[in-house]
Amino acid sequence: MSERHAYDVVVIGAGGAGIRAAIEAHQAGARTAIVCKSLFGKAHTVMAEGGIAAAMRNVWKEDGWQVHFRDTMRGGKLLNNWRMAQLHAQEAPDRVLELEEWGAMFDRTNDGLILQRDFGGHRYARLAHVGDRTGLEMIRTLQQRAVELGIDVFMEYTLQRLLTDAGRVTGAIGYKRQTGELVLFAAKAVVLATGGIGKAWKVTSNSWEYSGDGQAMALEAGAELIDMEMVQIHPTGMIWPPSVRGILVTEGVRGDGGTLKNTSGKRFMFDYIPEFFKAETADTEKEADAWYTDKRNNRRTPDLLPRDEVARAINAEIKAGRGTAHGGVYLDIASRRSPDYIRKRLPSMYVQFKELAGVDITVQPMEVAPTLHYVMGGIRVEADTAATTLPGLYAAGEVAAGMHGANRLGGNSLSDLLVFGRRAGKSAAEYAGRASAPPAANEAQIESAAAAMLKPLGAGDGENPYRIQSELQETMHELVGIIRDESGLKEAIRRIQTYKERLEQVRVPGGRAYNPGWNLALELRSLLMVAEASATSALMRQESRGGHTREDFPKTDGEWGKKNIVSMRQGDTLVQRTEPLPIVPDELKKILEEGAKSE
Ligand code: FUM
Repeated sequence: MSERHAYDVVVIGAGGAGIRAAIEAHQAGARTAIVCKSLFGKAHTVMAEGGIAAAMRNVWKEDGWQVHFRDTMRGGKLLNNWRMAQLHAQEAPDRVLELEEWGAMFDRTNDGLILQRDFGGHRYARLAHVGDRTGLEMIRTLQQRAVELGIDVFMEYTLQRLLTDAGRVTGAIGYKRQTGELVLFAAKAVVLATGGIGKAWKVTSNSWEYSGDGQAMALEAGAELIDMEMVQIHPTGMIWPPSVRGILVTEGVRGDGGTLKNTSGKRFMFDYIPEFFKAETADTEKEADAWYTDKRNNRRTPDLLPRDEVARAINAEIKAGRGTAHGGVYLDIASRRSPDYIRKRLPSMYVQFKELAGVDITVQPMEVAPTLHYVMGGIRVEADTAATTLPGLYAAGEVAAGMHGANRLGGNSLSDLLVFGRRAGKSAAEYAGRASAPPAANEAQIESAAAAMLKPLGAGDGENPYRIQSELQETMHELVGIIRDESGLKEAIRRIQTYKERLEQVRVPGGRAYNPGWNLALELRSLLMVAEASATSALMRQESRGGHTREDFPKTDGEWGKKNIVSMRQGDTLVQRTEPLPIVPDELKKILEEGAKSE
């Protein structure tokens, strides 16, 4: 092992959750390092473009944490961990204000307050934003804060396996991309903030980093995952030209008035609201939207239904032959907003379409289709502390589960990163403070992890990791995608087993320095673990709920709605069981019921 470091707290991942956790741990007095496999701040956080959800009441005085809590639980189809949803709704406004104190430049209302925009499933406009670059501004602000505090950052260090001793985590091992040397971080506590698993799917808004490393490391070290079947397909990704397929088109377009249309120019979202037929007599779009607002308790347009519902509707339009030649639908803001408004509110979308697709969105509609964006399932954590089931290991952000249930509302990810990133950093520092001595290195464990990591390098014929990844992506897209069924899921699981066998035969040419083939060979291990957990959980859950739609079980089932699916490892085998959801206390039940009455 050529490089060894020792810290109180090691945070793996440098997106919003990771940096926020590191700031908190550092401020609590823990010697803290951020270790990330990409560049500092190059994270999926920037793909939450449209805003941070927080009931700040700047635009709607009627808003409050209770309404945000209710929207989040309803959006998550009640599979959420109620305590996480409560903490999130209560603490999000303070986290946004704190971000502002640290230098974030939010768009303003005429009175100089932080402006908030509409997003799907939120009863009131509550997304604090910076044009359509909110995630980027958040990362910039957190980065600057971390640098000011002097937190140690290790960039392009890929940590691959957790080390444990006597039932607790003791650090992590990986390699340094620049040289290929193996590295060891001993730590009293580790925070996983590695984000999602999107690269297991063919069409995704995720970039190369999102290979499920954190989920896989946790699983392998003995922690539990929950509800891995729950993935979010964002309704609007780019579709044309093929090289940009999957890139996110922010929900902010619809939040600012954009509407979805099929090739006949029809606003098809109304067709997916059973009671709309009455309003078919509405002469204008305005009247139809007004009818909807009236019936749906202030929500403004069916184009802003929760993401799972909009994605399924788009999918149905395309399947019914009402999609574009490239297999998408239209998203039109040009016919409702002026070019100046569009360029001011959606500057990134304007440039993205102009540069990448040659489309001027101030005069032409965008062509969009669903894209895999987020995983609601992930590492099981304790709500207040972000502790996993493995002592010394914490998790926050997309890698952790529970907060969003079966479907995440847009904008809730950025607030989730801040609320639970802070909590994870605080808890990890406290845990590290209680641990007397630095953990002892288990040399045998280190040797065996190092040998396994080096195995793909070397001469001789073998499997190509790129080929296996591309087959996996095709399988997940076709069989574990927006619509699933038993035979497809069984076939996916069968194929994943064969990919796992082939992974053992992977060989990559070249040396250890900046070797992308070697990197992929290591990531494939994680990708296959999370893909297996996702497909097997999807087979187990015999109902449709949120991001999980079973053609053979099309209804939402009351009994399944009371259960999490827990995944864990026994030896090398993935095993699963169901467990009852935590019981919602009466005072929160009342909040949920009040909402149900009025909606
Ligand atoms: O559409 C978006 O801007 C994405 C936001 C999110 O995923 O929270």
